[in-house]
Amino acid sequence: MKRQAFNRQPNTLHAPRPAVHALVTGGAGFIGSNLCGALLARGWRVTAVDNFHLGRPEFVAPFRANAAFNFIKADLLDLSRVKRLVRGCDVVFHMAANSDISRGGRETDLDLSLGTLTTCNVLEAMRLAGVHDIVFASSSAIYGLARVMPTSEDYGPLLPISLYGASKLAAEGFIAAFCHNFGLRAWIFRFANIIGPHATHGALFDFIRRLRKNPRALRVLGDGRQAKPYLHVSECVGGMIHGYEHAAGEVNYFNLAPRTGATTVKFIAAAVVRALGLKGVKFEFTGGEQGWRGDVPQVRLDARKLARLGWRAEMSSDAAVERAARELAGQL
Ligand SMILES: NC(=O)c1ccc[n+]([C@@H]2O[C@H](COP(=O)([O-])OP(=O)(O)OC[C@H]3O[C@@H](n4cnc5c(N)ncnc54)[C@H](O)[C@@H]3O)[C@@H](O)[C@H]2O)c1
Repeated sequence: MKRQAFNRQPNTLHAPRPAVHALVTGGAGFIGSNLCGALLARGWRVTAVDNFHLGRPEFVAPFRANAAFNFIKADLLDLSRVKRLVRGCDVVFHMAANSDISRGGRETDLDLSLGTLTTCNVLEAMRLAGVHDIVFASSSAIYGLARVMPTSEDYGPLLPISLYGASKLAAEGFIAAFCHNFGLRAWIFRFANIIGPHATHGALFDFIRRLRKNPRALRVLGDGRQAKPYLHVSECVGGMIHGYEHAAGEVNYFNLAPRTGATTVKFIAAAVVRALGLKGVKFEFTGGEQGWRGDVPQVRLDARKLARLGWRAEMSSDAAVERAARELAGQL
């Protein structure tokens, strides 16, 4: 099916249209599983693939009863498997990667394989199968220590400071080149920090875990003043779908972030303490501007490009953090 058949509808939310078949890589992960739920709710057919590197079977378990959903356990590093997986799909939402940035600083081949090589395999399989549309989960990490903030999509030079950021930038390069040479089309979303149900790591997750073990004290990496924009996963998924349905270029690229603002690590720690209903917690800051080597301590993203296309996040960064803290406190 050609994408034009459904994306030119003025109101795609309510207009009846044939079921689109999406392959969601990393479909049992945090964002991938939330995306599967949103696509199924829109009446799409969804095939999710995951090797459970960080994903969990329970995140996709609720969809198993849905005839429009299919889950396949496979490793995207196996090109022959990927070739079979993409056959018959209209669009690939490529969410799979190593999402744990700090881990890439210790295991130096992880981001190259899971971030870049999986992307190359997906692109090659799409080229061979004649699947044209790829939606890619990129990251604000590609901007590195940006000198201009809020940082817009056309900022340069792009000099990431983590292997994770490097792998995303490389993946964006391969995507653009496949589009130019082989007629693919891409929707690249450079995510802010995404938070909400099914998260398996990150500051909120770590703080809740640690406070469950010791509700009297919390060790916080850095000086607590690191500040980044946080976006709730429901809005991340909504923004991606909107961008996919409304941008018509060959290589479309957007920051996907809350409208304004950023949330400090200190605020996150306090929000978690509130969500857990604790009192008198002693915060111990390890000090320094960076949480860890490779961490970008200050991030502000310009979200106006996607806003011009008609999509804006409803929640501020702080509101998203408060909500996700309550949700994760219930989950963990
Ligand atoms: N969470 C964030 O704040 C954030 C921010 C920017 C970008 N992103 C990107 O968004 C995407 C989704 O992130 P997430 O937070 O949901 O992470 P996640 O780890 O929960 O999801 C990634 C999924 O990919 C799977 N996967 C990894 N390697 C695979 C392989 N070789 N074969 C099959 N499956 C594989 C993992 O098992 C996992 O389920 C990632 O590409 C990530 O880099 C996330």
